[in-house]
Amino acid sequence: MSFSIERYKEESKKLDTTGIDWPAVTASPLSKGDLFCLHYMMDIENHVPLYLSHLLVTRACMDPILTAFLACWNYEELWHGENLGKLLNLYGIEFDAQDRIANVRANLGFQNSVSILSTMVGSWVLKDFSAVYLTIGAINELSTLTGYTALIRKSGHPVLKDLLNRIIKDERRHYAFYFNSAKEWLAGNEKAQRVDRWMLDRFWVPVGQGVKTQEQVDALALYLFDDEQGEEDLLALDEKIGKLPGLAGIELMSKALYAARERRRQNPEWAWRLIDNEEWAVAPPKKSPIGELTTRRMHGEATLSVLDGT
Ligand SMILES: [Fe+2]
Ligand SMILES: [Fe+2]
Repeated sequence: MSFSIERYKEESKKLDTTGIDWPAVTASPLSKGDLFCLHYMMDIENHVPLYLSHLLVTRACMDPILTAFLACWNYEELWHGENLGKLLNLYGIEFDAQDRIANVRANLGFQNSVSILSTMVGSWVLKDFSAVYLTIGAINELSTLTGYTALIRKSGHPVLKDLLNRIIKDERRHYAFYFNSAKEWLAGNEKAQRVDRWMLDRFWVPVGQGVKTQEQVDALALYLFDDEQGEEDLLALDEKIGKLPGLAGIELMSKALYAARERRRQNPEWAWRLIDNEEWAVAPPKKSPIGELTTRRMHGEATLSVLDGT
């Protein structure tokens, strides 16, 4: 698996949705589980700019190759979230995408600032911290594309399949960048390997956790991967990550699935109740209305006239 940053910069572009049969979105049904996953995935795609804000305070950003990648990557991820939202809207689920994004971010509150600060401190204290988030980047991208592949299989929805297969192509490139960069950092660097393994074993969480609750993460994992094929996919994912120097035999996603199963064993309603009750709406933040957090303080015509310059 090779990756050329020069080629990536040349080829990076907005997701090409030409020819997607959008009017046929309503012709095939999506289950409650499919819809739950789509909301989760859309929210996490839309969370990329905040995730990026963590990376940009680390000293890895001294590396112009990394920042060139991040510039393109962030733009590509934007269109993943936009198109998942479009599909949901066309399917008949009504929400304002901008309000939803602002609500998800506002609900993170103080925790987000603490997380940025600790990433910043970690990066400046530990020289090999870069290895950790490059590895996490690789795991996140690989988990994302594995999740999309599982959703294609579960839903059997032709339009969703077409859209997700296009997104998966982007995710593969992202995975190649992170994996190769992590490998480069870790190769022949035993100290970095120890730091990486130690951090992953103790602090790694599945993509989206933190933005989503443990129960929401488990609902996604159990819907997509709690069958023979799903478990095999997660074991294969761990095996791929285990090929990074120092990470042989590491268990991440498979362990997360087994932990989700255990929580459900202890409480049979766990996770599935979120899917059954269609709990995918995002509540507005209690303290700060989004109008206070965005430039959209005015509503209706006032906003439009500003935008029109009139
Ligand atoms: Fe994405
Ligand atoms: Fe990605």
